[in-house]
Amino acid sequence: MCGIVGYIGNKKACPILLAGLTRLEYRGYDSAGVSTIEKNGLSLMKNKGRVKNLYDLDGIDKLEGTIGIAHTRWATHGKPSNENSHPHQDNSKRISVVHNGIIENYSELRGLLESNGYHFYSQTDTEVIPNLIHYYFSKNTEDNSVMGFLRAVRDACLDLKGSFAIEVITDYFPDNMIVVRKDSPLVIGTCDDEKYISSDIPAILSFTRDFYLLNDFEFVLLSRTSARFFDSQLNEFQKNTDVIEWNSSAAEKDGFEDFMLKEIFEQPNAVRETIGSRISNNLTCDIDELNFSKEDLKKINKIYIIACGTAMHAGLSGKNAIEKLCRIPTEVDIASEFRYRDPIVDNNTLCIFISQSGETADTIAALKLAKSKGATTIAISNVIGSSITREADFTIYTHAGPEIAVASTKAYTSQVILINILAIYFAETLESASCEQLKDLKSEILSLPKKIEETLECKEQIFNFAKKVYQEKDMFFLGRGIDETVAKEGSLKLKEISYIHSESYAAGELKHGPIALIENGVTVVGIMTDEKLTPKTISNIQEVITRGAKTLIITNQVIDYNSFNEVIKIPNTSPFVSPILSVIPLQLLAYYISKEKGLDVDKPRNLAKSVTVE
Ligand code: F6R
Repeated sequence: MCGIVGYIGNKKACPILLAGLTRLEYRGYDSAGVSTIEKNGLSLMKNKGRVKNLYDLDGIDKLEGTIGIAHTRWATHGKPSNENSHPHQDNSKRISVVHNGIIENYSELRGLLESNGYHFYSQTDTEVIPNLIHYYFSKNTEDNSVMGFLRAVRDACLDLKGSFAIEVITDYFPDNMIVVRKDSPLVIGTCDDEKYISSDIPAILSFTRDFYLLNDFEFVLLSRTSARFFDSQLNEFQKNTDVIEWNSSAAEKDGFEDFMLKEIFEQPNAVRETIGSRISNNLTCDIDELNFSKEDLKKINKIYIIACGTAMHAGLSGKNAIEKLCRIPTEVDIASEFRYRDPIVDNNTLCIFISQSGETADTIAALKLAKSKGATTIAISNVIGSSITREADFTIYTHAGPEIAVASTKAYTSQVILINILAIYFAETLESASCEQLKDLKSEILSLPKKIEETLECKEQIFNFAKKVYQEKDMFFLGRGIDETVAKEGSLKLKEISYIHSESYAAGELKHGPIALIENGVTVVGIMTDEKLTPKTISNIQEVITRGAKTLIITNQVIDYNSFNEVIKIPNTSPFVSPILSVIPLQLLAYYISKEKGLDVDKPRNLAKSVTVE
């Protein structure tokens, strides 16, 4: 939520910042702004609305400064408006700050500053930060060097409760920038005499592959040629860079109309990358990042899979695989619920956290809670060095490549495949499933990239169906067993990008209430990939047809096509991994409905890519 970019180098900062913001807009798009260090002081240009509006601001093309900070906002405190847009400045206008996160004690700090003569012009929590820095800097008259300014930033940050990633520039020190984070992502890309700062790697991937991945309360004093790191006692320490393997074209649209469509079509490759060498052609399974012995796993009597949204839906297929193959009771929990419900966790519990971004505030908090209760923790993430990967005992990466569209697609399929591989790895270690069953599943997994390619061929059929239903107000998604987990994901995708209200149900549950909503012409999507459950689901679908529903069926089973309005045939596979194929027509359905309605597919209203606030 909220995107931050910064530049310090020898080129004009503003064009670099605007390009970075455009790439980061998926993190928030209520308002945007930049501040640069010019010869005559700090510039400040900001505006309500999308990043592209900034290009029209008077004088923005005249900015010459080679150091600057920029921000694209997802509003928390204060509605989207020019005053509430970032950057924010202190009252003397000599310090500019951008901030991602939430300052929980901002009204207390605002009170303190007001009683010291400071005034506030916005409703944001952020505006306290530059003023607090100014307050500490002007208080300490003995040290007006850049180290004194760093000390003032440190003092201000120690007063802040909540989460923050901030960039600070000041015309007191026109050759420097200070950045720091706590519970909110921030990375620094470095090359020659330039530093690029961002809340997300893809925004600056085209400039460098060498990144400093910051930990909480690491204060960084940047100049064009150096990055100096200090802990919260201001002791200096050395930090190494990490090399990020993603290539920059992975963060571009590559000829596709939208990132979402590109990412849907990247799924064969994304899943191939996720499988990697974890399952080899001779059907051995290994996860290099883990080293559980049979004894370690035997001690585990309960598994929680904890995540939010789409990642939680991937977790549901993990429960299916782990319970069936390993016979360990497994619960899937929404992170925001888990953290407040006093879950029964001890040192015989394994907690698996799934998060594409690795920065979801609720998931991070749930992870910290599970650790404090003695659980063993595994993070599944797509982003190298993200917060959950640094907290967890073990990390397994999905390697799906950057996911830019707000609606998650390839991250979901990669998570489903990875958690199935994890279940196989556990089952082999525990010897809890037959070799034959595991061998079949492994060879199914290896065949999936090809089968995803075949499934994507339904594009035209779904496009035509979307044209028929895009004006509807309600839809229903039904399935049983593993197919219900996909119904949930299909329904979420539709809601978030097409703004059509939809519900997902276990097919057998419909008649216990929701069937009252079925009336003439309403669209019901049925998913059937499990041979044992298909006849049951068909009966439930018949019940809605009788009441006038129009039906779209996604299946790999032999069924009577004539009974339904539209049937999408997908390749046959094991029900363990069928979500990877059955979700694809549903992703495309949401996509094409959104396009028919003329909506912004990649940046749906009210949403942002990574939810770094509670
Ligand atoms: C939906 C979607 C969200 C995310 C959720 C968790 O398309 O993208 O539901 O899945 O916000 O995000 P991560 O996986 O980054 O923790």
